[in-house]
Amino acid sequence: MAGDLSVEVHEGHPSERRQVRFDWSDTPAQWIPGDPFSSHVLNVLHLLLPTGERWFAASINLAKEQVKDPELREAIGPFIGQESWHAWAHTKVLEHLEEVGIDTAPYTERMDRAFKRVLGDHPSWPKFLQGWWMRRRLGAISAIEHFTAVLGHFALTSDAYDRYEADPVMADLFRWHAAEEVEHRSLVFDVHVAVGGRWSQRVSTMATTIPVLFGLWIIGANFMFKADPEIRGRIRFNLKEYRRAVREGKLPGLKVLFGTVPKYLKPGYNPVQEFDTQLALDYLARSPAAQAAAEAADSEQVADGGDVSFDGDLKELFREKDRKEMAWAYDLWSHEDVSKNADVILERVEKGDMPCDGPWSEEQVDLFRRCTEAGAPP
Ligand code: HEM
Ligand SMILES: [Fe+2]
Ligand SMILES: [Fe+2]
Repeated sequence: MAGDLSVEVHEGHPSERRQVRFDWSDTPAQWIPGDPFSSHVLNVLHLLLPTGERWFAASINLAKEQVKDPELREAIGPFIGQESWHAWAHTKVLEHLEEVGIDTAPYTERMDRAFKRVLGDHPSWPKFLQGWWMRRRLGAISAIEHFTAVLGHFALTSDAYDRYEADPVMADLFRWHAAEEVEHRSLVFDVHVAVGGRWSQRVSTMATTIPVLFGLWIIGANFMFKADPEIRGRIRFNLKEYRRAVREGKLPGLKVLFGTVPKYLKPGYNPVQEFDTQLALDYLARSPAAQAAAEAADSEQVADGGDVSFDGDLKELFREKDRKEMAWAYDLWSHEDVSKNADVILERVEKGDMPCDGPWSEEQVDLFRRCTEAGAPP
């Protein structure tokens, strides 16, 4: 399993993923009471991150073969694990938003399509362009990771969510995510350098990332204001409200957001020079959801019963290639790993984006579903 690294982990690289779960049943869409503006500006993260972070994970996964440094190479597993789990956790919020009457699919489906078309793999391109494209993607992701660390540090240090009595579950989700972003802040930067990404590309990818990222954010905020039946577009993104939210400590100001960009653009910079890993680890040690995840990971709970078996029926569903590609998360040939994580695996094969190279047939999905519902024995 990811998490047991045989080499010492550098500062700025992740050591483990935390399979954190949240109970959304009591969380309102406007989770900062009396402040729909700030609530929805932050809710935009649920729209952007599932697509974005799965794209991070898939892009790094392609690059890992080329990373020679053993420590960096090993840290890629927990990184993919963390980003993939972040994406999953935010998807759960989107499902909850739908239950309370906010349908986000029009935005997220367009995002998904645009990402695949513009930022995905282009297998038909010539080889020299493939290498360039991989470095270019990693440069852009490194630029975005700069901002997730900036936002992460902000979320961990602002006391506004407590002062304004924000929903504790949503505050915990954002701070758990914030903490892991601060923890793994230099991983993508280091991979970009390790595969030959240059300083000039760091500058050019930052220059294209800023308008796209913050453009998508403002469009997303206006989408949320329209989609929320309690608002119906009566609010739009505007500077007056933004400045008020910044004064109250709920949103980061422009100086916080962009103040460290000049440092990022200096030759010789590395993200470990900024922010504080200990601050992140301290939060993870007191986060209710991260604590529950740590306890669940320690307890061995494998169900049994049913007339189907893992070795006889299920294991054959996984090819050698699947097992190798997914080793950062689970051993797909291990009964224990698969049954512990059956809910998440089932979700992805039902949705059809896993396996990576084409969905399972109805029969295969059905077999997996029956096995897991019955709690397949070994
Ligand atoms: C060669 C084939 C495969 C490749 C290259 C691959 C690659 C990946 C990558 C890069 C991710 C992280 C990004 C994301 O969450 O989308 C991921 C996640 C995931 N994949 Fe695969 N995968 C493959 C096959 C499979 C198969 C066969 C299954 C299950 C039957 C599977 C189940 C999952 C699950 C459940 C996740 C979410 C994991 C988590 O965050 O815990 N994958 N995969
Ligand atoms: Fe993340
Ligand atoms: Fe990240």
